[in-house]
Amino acid sequence: MKTIKLGFLGLGNIGSGVARVLAANKTLLQEESGLTFEIVKVLERDPSRLEALGLAPSLRTEKIEEVTDHPDIDIIIEVLGGQEPAASFMRRALEHGKTVVTANKSALAPTWEILDSAAKQSGAGLYFEASAGGGIPVIDVLNHSMQANHIAMIMGIINGTTNYMLWRMKQEHMSYDQALKEAQELGYAEPDPTFDVGGKDAAFKLSILASLAMRKHVDVEDIACVGITEITPQDLELGGEMGMTLKLLGIAKDQGDEVEAHVYPTFLPDSHMMSAVTDAFNAIFLTGDMVDDVMLYGRGAGALPTASAIVSDIVRASKAQRHEYQRFFAEGNKAKVNNKKAASRYFLRFEGEDTQSLKTALEEKGLKVMKTATAAGQCAVLIDQVSEEELDRALAGCTGCLAAIHAEV
Ligand code: HSE
Repeated sequence: MKTIKLGFLGLGNIGSGVARVLAANKTLLQEESGLTFEIVKVLERDPSRLEALGLAPSLRTEKIEEVTDHPDIDIIIEVLGGQEPAASFMRRALEHGKTVVTANKSALAPTWEILDSAAKQSGAGLYFEASAGGGIPVIDVLNHSMQANHIAMIMGIINGTTNYMLWRMKQEHMSYDQALKEAQELGYAEPDPTFDVGGKDAAFKLSILASLAMRKHVDVEDIACVGITEITPQDLELGGEMGMTLKLLGIAKDQGDEVEAHVYPTFLPDSHMMSAVTDAFNAIFLTGDMVDDVMLYGRGAGALPTASAIVSDIVRASKAQRHEYQRFFAEGNKAKVNNKKAASRYFLRFEGEDTQSLKTALEEKGLKVMKTATAAGQCAVLIDQVSEEELDRALAGCTGCLAAIHAEV
């Protein structure tokens, strides 16, 4: 039986999870793939992490070249997190002809084109199933199972931390700070949680997913990004009064020559399947022109679900006759992102409870009020489809608007 030799960059939470999956399902993996897997080098500062997994101390190194330039290593697993030095290390590995499997969206999304090109030049593979949606096999679905479709829309709950926080804030009336503390204690949040709550983590993931869905590179720099830092309990309560649930959604829509791509807190109807996605779960909702709607649901964070996706990539990479590269990079096919024209419904929150006067004032400005709600000295309205530009114009000079939140209802 052939043995595939693995090098690890990092042996933290996710890296240890990969080692555990390889050990726990060793027989299954042998039966399924006809291969065995051996860890031969680990870039890691902390010796206790190897010890905890029963790995020999001699496997540990603090020198990147001892992994990337190792003559025996077939595949390098990059689970360091953060953009640098992870992106440079992956590039070095690919330039040395080593196939890379990564879970690291914050290194992959901004440097994807460079890494794809380095992989293509050396003939190595670049695999990233775990980089978006954790254990949900969404990359494979987009790359292979949706081939017969134009994908008109992809909408995802792709950050577990914020989904957990919004759920706890609504169900338990928990404060923002307490909900974040819990999400950190449960190991969902990034080392720097501003990437989670600010929406950047979801934007990295949306860049990857939307590019595969739209078959054009949706650059993370072009994705409009608003996190949940300004969300208040009143938003959740007043939205709830209107039969809506708030989610941090990454959305990309094919608008012909342009693509709409953003990460925004967004209200959904309580009856929408995505509204039932609670805790730190993720879900991705796709609309194909042939298959219609597809929804994928599962654990988007955590050591073992993420490791499950990484190990499936290791097996896939080991068995590949030829690695695949992104056609949109080769063709220079970059998405023109424009979020200004797209129309959306909006939830608007105001000081005071006089919904009748508010409705009259907003309708004089050309906005159509669909619903109203009041609670504890504040009120909110749901207004019908307007573009961002139209909303900005209508609200200019309008005093007392405390929040404007997108609604996909
Ligand atoms: N911090 C991320 C999340 C981890 O909360 O979804 C998984 O990418």
